[in-house]
Amino acid sequence: MRVIPAVKEMQAEVLNQKAQGKSIGFVPTMGFLHEGHLSLIKKAREENDLVVLSIFVNPLQFGPNEDFATYPRDFERDRALAESEGVDFLFYPSVEEMYPNPSSVTLVVQKRTDVLCGKSRPGHFDGVATVLAKLFQIVQPTRAYFGKKDAQQVAVVEGLITDLNFPVELVPVDIVREADGLAKSSRNVNLLPEDRKQAVVLHKSLQQAKKVMDEGERNPSTLISLIKEMITSESSGRIDYIELLSYPQLLPIERLEGKFIIALAVHFTNVRLIDNFILEIN
Ligand code: PAJ
Repeated sequence: MRVIPAVKEMQAEVLNQKAQGKSIGFVPTMGFLHEGHLSLIKKAREENDLVVLSIFVNPLQFGPNEDFATYPRDFERDRALAESEGVDFLFYPSVEEMYPNPSSVTLVVQKRTDVLCGKSRPGHFDGVATVLAKLFQIVQPTRAYFGKKDAQQVAVVEGLITDLNFPVELVPVDIVREADGLAKSSRNVNLLPEDRKQAVVLHKSLQQAKKVMDEGERNPSTLISLIKEMITSESSGRIDYIELLSYPQLLPIERLEGKFIIALAVHFTNVRLIDNFILEIN
């Protein structure tokens, strides 16, 4: 595995590889790798000749009161994990390398950002879209792998790829969870022990909502109330949102049918956690 810190070197390398007809699977991350990230790498490894992993904590997608400074980082551990998963190139630029000057052009995401995380994190998806547009130009992947844990991000990336005609195939990958159901996240290490115990209610409440739906409930507000009730009674977390929307359009629905997402975000002492189920009724 080669670690590449420079944009020009990464571009030269992929051009060289693509000239030899190699397909490139790309896994963009902010590092502090866990099983969720590794599942994306494994899938990319299966489906492509080469795998490029990027690790870059992107300042553009963090709000002024968010956790950019305390976002967990451990490059040596990440490098060893990437190597053992068979990554070929690890793109690891500094902030100065990615943003050498104040940007003269950034992207603004027009759709699907007035709900879920977009609503509570203004500008977040503009930052995600801008860094991914840059990374797609740098890595020029055949396929790019994204986790459904960030389901709104998958929807936004689909719009980015379609609207700006990136010749990239988007591959969404299922959520990887801890044994007790908590969705794996780099931020989980920042949970206080008591919050970690309570955080299991996110997944539990989604499962309960699914059960009630399987038993015939079709009213979105009933499921939302049920989830709210469970989270408030079983944790001291502060609910940011619980929403039920069509997927991937992310529009409100009045009755459960077709493909939809139940998504939630909850603040614990130091960490904001998200989770979701994407379900379908035909
Ligand atoms: P990051 O949070 O590091 O996540 C990188 C990728 O791993 C994302 O596609 C995310 O959805 C996926 N992932 C995280 N936890 C997962 C889990 N438990 N199961 C499955 N996949 C999981 O998302 C970002 O970074 C950034 O916004 C980025 C796309 C890199 C742009 O800066």
